[in-house]
Amino acid sequence: MKLVVLISGRGSNLQAILDAGLPVEVAAVLSNRKSAAGLQLAEARGIPAHSLAHTEFPDRAEFDQAMMRVIDGYAPDLVVLAGYMRILSDAFVQHYAGRLINIHPSLLPSYPGMDTHARALADGVKIHGCTVHLVTPVLDRGPVIVQAAVAVRSDDTAETLGARVLAAEHKIYPLAIRWFAERRLVFGDDGKVNLLNDEGSEQSVFYPGA
Ligand code: GRF
Repeated sequence: MKLVVLISGRGSNLQAILDAGLPVEVAAVLSNRKSAAGLQLAEARGIPAHSLAHTEFPDRAEFDQAMMRVIDGYAPDLVVLAGYMRILSDAFVQHYAGRLINIHPSLLPSYPGMDTHARALADGVKIHGCTVHLVTPVLDRGPVIVQAAVAVRSDDTAETLGARVLAAEHKIYPLAIRWFAERRLVFGDDGKVNLLNDEGSEQSVFYPGA
């Protein structure tokens, strides 16, 4: 199975995916920022790395079309958003419908958008976490594939909580990709995703994280 991974920054999820020994080929890594550290990581592993600066395109639609041309050159089975900090055009999302996934640092549908750890702390929630989901046109609202829970501690800051959530991200993103590659994910018409277990029946997935 061929993957193309989209990043904007550090690339720690990319690294977790590359280090997980998955039965997949990461065919290319694309970034909308030339400075993304994850691009160097890809190059160091011999993976083609592309950066397209969104600032050099007249609008979102044209930038996304340019991204799609590069991505489609690799004919990926799955497009993986790993810290890709751009809102996607509907045309992009529709083009990759059913083969576009994202990781988000909260237990969706709680805390879509930015600053999830600070917002969770401000609300005093006791359980936080992260979500791998299929991408649909509504931001951070696609069908949930797998979630990991992270207990909030009384002395947590956004940084300490975020670090434990990130560690959980590094576990569930490779897991979700493995299941996708093994064709064990069942995407229901009701927007729910289940996992085929060894007995061939469907189960919901929750990963007890940090
Ligand atoms: C992660 O927290 C991810 O959930 C969010 O952006 C961050 C990316 O981190 N979408 P990295 O670039 O994978 O280290």
